[in-house]
Amino acid sequence: MYVCVCKAVTDRQIREAAQGGARTLKDLRRDLGITRDCGRCASCAHDCLREVHGESAKPGKATRRAA
Ligand code: FES
Repeated sequence: MYVCVCKAVTDRQIREAAQGGARTLKDLRRDLGITRDCGRCASCAHDCLREVHGESAKPGKATRRAA
């Protein structure tokens, strides 16, 4: 599923970057270019980071998952 439509970045790419060492949105911005345009992907990308690093998403907040 596309998380960042502006840069055509998927949740899989974000998870791979996180597994490769990305820990912050700044890391993802540097590695994948996300949040550089409209910024709407920031919340979902952050949730992907949290999932990979074993942290739960914010309570009551829906996370996008690949179908
Ligand atoms: S959706 Fe990621 S910068 Fe626009």
